Amino acid sequence: MNQDLQKINDIIQQSQHLSDEEKSVLLKSAKDADKALEIANFKLDRTEKVKRTTAILLEETIQELELKRKAIEESNEALKKSLEELKSAQQQLIQSEKMASLGELTAGIAHEIQNPLNFVNNFSDVSKELLDEMKEELNKGDTDEAKAIADDVIQNLEKILHHGKRAGDIVKGMLQHSRTSSGQKELTNINALADEYLRLAYHGLRAKDKTFNAATKTDYDENIGLIKIIPQDIGRVILNLISNAFYAVNEKKKQQPEEYEPVVSISTKRLNNNVEIAIKDNGTGIPKIVVDKIFQPFFTTKPTGSGTGLGLSLSYDIVKAHGGLIKVNTKENEGTEFKIVLAF
Ligand SMILES: Nc1ncnc2c1ncn2[C@@H]1O[C@H](COP(=O)(O)OP(=O)(O)OP(=O)(O)O)[C@@H](O)[C@H]1O
Ligand SMILES: [Mg+2]
Repeated sequence: MNQDLQKINDIIQQSQHLSDEEKSVLLKSAKDADKALEIANFKLDRTEKVKRTTAILLEETIQELELKRKAIEESNEALKKSLEELKSAQQQLIQSEKMASLGELTAGIAHEIQNPLNFVNNFSDVSKELLDEMKEELNKGDTDEAKAIADDVIQNLEKILHHGKRAGDIVKGMLQHSRTSSGQKELTNINALADEYLRLAYHGLRAKDKTFNAATKTDYDENIGLIKIIPQDIGRVILNLISNAFYAVNEKKKQQPEEYEPVVSISTKRLNNNVEIAIKDNGTGIPKIVVDKIFQPFFTTKPTGSGTGLGLSLSYDIVKAHGGLIKVNTKENEGTEFKIVLAF
C-alpha cells in the first residue's frame, strides 16, 4: 500500500472517536484509493514504456531515412553523371552522323567540282591557243584582230575565275557541313541551297549506284528573297529529306521495276510570313503504324547498318531550333511529302 495511505489507514484504525462501522467504511475507501492509485501507476508506467519504445523506433526511422537520403543523393549523382555521359555520347553521335552524311556527299561533291574543273581546264586550253594566235596576228601587224582575240581571252579568263570560285564555294560548303556547330544565322538564298543539296544528293547516289535513277523536279518561288537561317543546318535537313525520298523511290523501284517512274520533287513557296520547303516523292510511303515513330531518334526501317535512324530526329531538332516545324503527309504505296515551314 502507498505509504501515505498506510498512515491514513493506521490513524483510522487507532482512532477512538470513530465507530467500528465508520472505521470499516473509511478503511475501504482508503483501500479503493490505493487500488486506483496502483492502476494509475501501472498505466503511467506502461505509457512511459510505450514512449521509450516509440522514441527508439523514431530514432531508428530517422537513421533509416538518413541512409535512404544518402542513397538517393548517391543515385542522383550517378544519374547526373550518366546524363552527362549520355549527352556527350549524343554529341558524338550527331557528329558521326554528320560525318556519315558528309561521306554520302563526297561522291556528289566530287561530281560537282569536276564540272567547274572541266571548264577551267578547257578555257585555259582554249586561251593558250588564242594567245598563240594573237602573237601571230601581232607579228603580222594586224592589231585589230589581235585586240579581238585579246577580248576573247579576257572573257575566257572571267569564266575561269567564275568556275574556279564555284569550285571554291563547293569546298567551303563541304567544310561548313562537317563543322561541329556554327550557330550563325545568315541571310540565305533558300532556293540555291535546296538546289545545291538536291544535286549533291542525286549525284552522290548515282556515283555509288549506277543503276539508280530518278527524275527530279524543281519548282522554286523566285519571290522568296533571302531568309535568315543557319544555312548548313537547314542544308542538312534538306539533304536528309532528299536522301530519304531517293531511298523510298529506289525501294519502290526494286518492288515494281516495270511501269514505275520514280520522281522526287522539291519546291519552295512563300506564304504570308512563312516559307515552305516541300520535298515530295512517289516512293513506298509510310505505313500508319510507323508514321508516329519516324521522328524518334534511332527509329529506322532500313536494314541494320544502312541507317542510323537519326536523320529525321536531327532534322526535327534543327527546324525546331529555327522556330519552325516539319509536317509529313504520306500514303502507303503512293508516296510522301515532307514540308519544312520556317517563319520569315
Ligand atoms: N520519304 C520517305 N518515304 C518512306 N519512308 C520514309 C521517308 N522518310 C522517312 N521514312 C521512314 O522514316 C524512318 C526514319 O527516317 P530517318 O531519316 O530518321 O532515318 P533513316 O533514313 O532510316 O536513317 P538515316 O537517316 O540515318 O540514313 C525511315 O527508316 C523510314 O522508315
Ligand atoms: Mg534518313
